[in-house]
Parts: sequence; structure tokens; C-alpha cells
Amino acid sequence: MVETSDAWIRERTGIIERHIAADGETCSDLAVVAAQRALEAAGIAGREVDLVVLATSTPDQVFPSTACLIQERLDIPGKTIAFDIAAACCGFIYALDVADRFIRTGGARRALVIGAETFSRILNWEDRTTCVLFGDGAGAVLLEAADEPGVLSTQLYADGRQQALLNVPWGISQGYERLTPTSGKITMRGNDVFKAAVRSMGALVDETLQANDLAREDVDWLVPHQANIRIMAALARKLGFSMEQVIVTADRHGNTSAASVPLALDVAVRDGRIQRGQLLLLEAFGAGFTWGSALVRY
Ligand code: COA
Repeated sequence: MVETSDAWIRERTGIIERHIAADGETCSDLAVVAAQRALEAAGIAGREVDLVVLATSTPDQVFPSTACLIQERLDIPGKTIAFDIAAACCGFIYALDVADRFIRTGGARRALVIGAETFSRILNWEDRTTCVLFGDGAGAVLLEAADEPGVLSTQLYADGRQQALLNVPWGISQGYERLTPTSGKITMRGNDVFKAAVRSMGALVDETLQANDLAREDVDWLVPHQANIRIMAALARKLGFSMEQVIVTADRHGNTSAASVPLALDVAVRDGRIQRGQLLLLEAFGAGFTWGSALVRY
């Protein structure tokens, strides 16, 4: 479709494979599977959940929210709160923060926090600077009220002045007459985004450590947004983290936007690297720009 090569993609991004949703397979289809696996891993039934927060930029429908569709399919009862959050690739960190605040203030006891995307639907398959990067996927976690909080601290940021560097320039309120074959697709100034991502996430990790009076050695695992292995390596170098401390799944999934952090978390929990009681620093950067971190005791 475009002039590129496997060698270029591996070398410049670290991506080896990614997954594309089947024809007709939607965001909620992926999210429901991830949510079911999270419930299974936590030993919790759907009816025990009282909050569903979905981070996505690729919902099934304009409304209802995809979180409501997931709630129905998981047979979660009607007393539940369910809504979507749009913060692009940083969506999962935003969703985790919001769900954690619900739990801390007694508004919910058990929250399903999901990141799910079908970015293949918003790729311009003739633009080689973006179409090789993104994949479809979903990841989910279950948060439960407890005496000792698991989410220790969160930091969220947004800077809308940078929106033109990474966007899908069409949305419903512009009207369908403005929808062209490319206006509903991702555009990105990759190199500028790359530099901004390293700069912002670097400062953010330092800030998170300082705010919690921690040194980098205290963190067991850095779980970054999986946009590009070179971004993660530059970040680790800048911060003095060893790559041994960084969970990398971009090679297997590509950039799955809001799904990338929970997918990375899931892979590393299931393969035994992440253990109960360990300290995790999750962080992400995306369109907006939006960026954020969460310090989590797993
Ligand atoms: N195959 C082959 N060549 C490609 C290519 C592809 N898929 N995509 C871009 N190129 C070319 C460019 O056209 C350019 O060619 P030119 O020098 O002849 O103009 C050259 O490769 C270098 O382009 P550049 O954009 O400087 O490459 P890069 O090293 O910055 O890598 C990205 C490009 C997109 C992989 C990288 O910038 C990136 O990952 N950016 C951040 C992405 C990101 O994080 N996005 C989402 C945030 S949530």
C-alpha cells in the first residue's frame, strides 16, 4: 500500500507485529474480552462492579457511550455508573485517575477501567508516516476499595495548543459534508511528537518520583505508553532507568493508543515479571497533547 519495509519499521519504531480488528469487530468487542479477563483474574463477578470507565478515541457509536454497551454485555446491573473518557493515547491514565477518585470518595467500590481502540479504522493507509505504527487492542484492570490504596499518586496534564501536531481533524459537530476520505483519519508530525513525548514524560517521571519522595531504584517497573521503542529508550536513558526495568510490548502490539498501557501491564503480570506488592510507574503521552503518570502498588 505504501513504500516502506519491515526493516525500516523495526529499526525506527521497534514494532514487529500488531493486530487489526476483523471486519465488523468493534471497540466494545475487544473491550468486553479484556474486561472479562480482568474480572476472571480478580475473581470478581460482573454484578459486583459499580463503575465502568472506558478510555477510547474509537467508540462503537456516537452514543450511547461504549462503556454502556460493555456494561450491558457483561451483565453489570443498572445501579452502575458507566462513561467513556477521551484523552487519546493518555486515556487509560486519565481513566485510572478518575476511577481512583470515585473509589477514594466512596462513589464506587469496584471499578472496571478499560482502554480499548480500533485505530485501524482511523488510519490513512496511504500515509506511511502513520499507517505502520498503530494497532487495535484492549486492556483492562479492576480497581477495588481497600484500606491500603493501590493507586498512590497520579499526575495529569493537557496542552491544547499542540493539537495540530497529532489529530484526526474531523468530528461529528463539523457535519458530514466536511467528512472527506482523509479528514476522518490520523495526521501526525511524528518527529515533533517524538521530541515532545520524551521531554514531557521525562519531566513527568521526575516530578512523580519527587512528589512521592522516591528514587528511581525504588520503582520496580516503568510501564510506558508503547508508541515507539526509541521513545522508551530515550526516556530511560534520560532518566537513568535501565531498559531491564522497562516493560516493552510495542514489538508485539504496535501503538494501541489508550489500550497500550493496560496491555503492557497485562503481558508483564501474566508472564510473571510484575509481582504483587511491586511499585509500578505507568505513564503515557498522546494527542492534545495530554500526558500523565500513575504510581501504583500492584
Ligand atoms: N517507511 C519508510 N520511510 C518512512 C516511513 C515508513 N513507514 N515513515 C517515514 N519515513 C521516512 C520519512 O518520509 C523521512 O524521509 P525523508 O527524510 O526522505 O523526508 C524519513 O523516513 C525520516 O522521517 P522522520 O519522521 O524524521 O523519522 P523518525 O525517525 O522521526 O521516525 C516516527 C518516524 C513516526 C516513527 C517517529 O517520529 C515517531 O515514532 N514519532 C512519535 C510517534 C508517536 O509517539 N505518536 C503517537 C504519540 S501517542
